Amino acid sequence: MAVFSAVLLLGLLMASSNIADAQQIGVCYGMLGNNLPSKNEVVELYKINNIQRMRLYDPNREALQALNGSNIELMVGIPNEQLQLMASSDPTAAYSWVFEHVFLNRDDVKFKYIVVGNEVSFAEFKYILPAMRNIYSALELADLQNQIKVSTAVFSGHISETYPPRNSVFNSQIRPLMEEIVAFLVEKQAPLLANVYPFFAYLSNQDQITV
Ligand SMILES: *[C@@H]1O[C@H](CO)[C@@H](O)[C@H](O)[C@H]1NC(C)=O
Repeated sequence: MAVFSAVLLLGLLMASSNIADAQQIGVCYGMLGNNLPSKNEVVELYKINNIQRMRLYDPNREALQALNGSNIELMVGIPNEQLQLMASSDPTAAYSWVFEHVFLNRDDVKFKYIVVGNEVSFAEFKYILPAMRNIYSALELADLQNQIKVSTAVFSGHISETYPPRNSVFNSQIRPLMEEIVAFLVEKQAPLLANVYPFFAYLSNQDQITV
């Protein structure tokens, strides 16, 4: 764990759906570790180094406050422990999540993506799409669905042939569910995230994904 305590180690966020965007770099802001710099110091590091995108694994209150008024584009995660709740047929929990963390802060923080689950296990894979749908519908109610895209981050163990990323193939176990997720992403013109240890590649919907 000590190896991972440095905040800015945790990844590169590469590319997007066009060339201009692809030149921007983002860095994952992980908080598992000790002796971490304060949220304000971390945001300051992004600014000093002209890092324009951040991935947060949950809507950490202090981090959102530190991002207040900055131009840093944010990808914010919904932790796996909350997936089942977010996926329930009653969308109240998903609506509340979006309202509390995104809608109320929408003028202060540049939300670009909501990542529904990170490296979700096969056992919980079934929650991803219903949760994504509920989150999408909450964004739609707030008229934020074009501004903020909904996605999920796939575990590299679920993918084979990962280099180059466009050659990736989903393993057969998750493939049926993945097909539905990909169809949803294509319909909503949202990208798919694939965590590729120690970095993660960021596949746009224009990359070919072999299902
Ligand atoms: C951002 O700052 C404004 C003005 O101080 C404040 O009203 C708002 O609550 C802050 N938002 C966040 C997300 O901290």
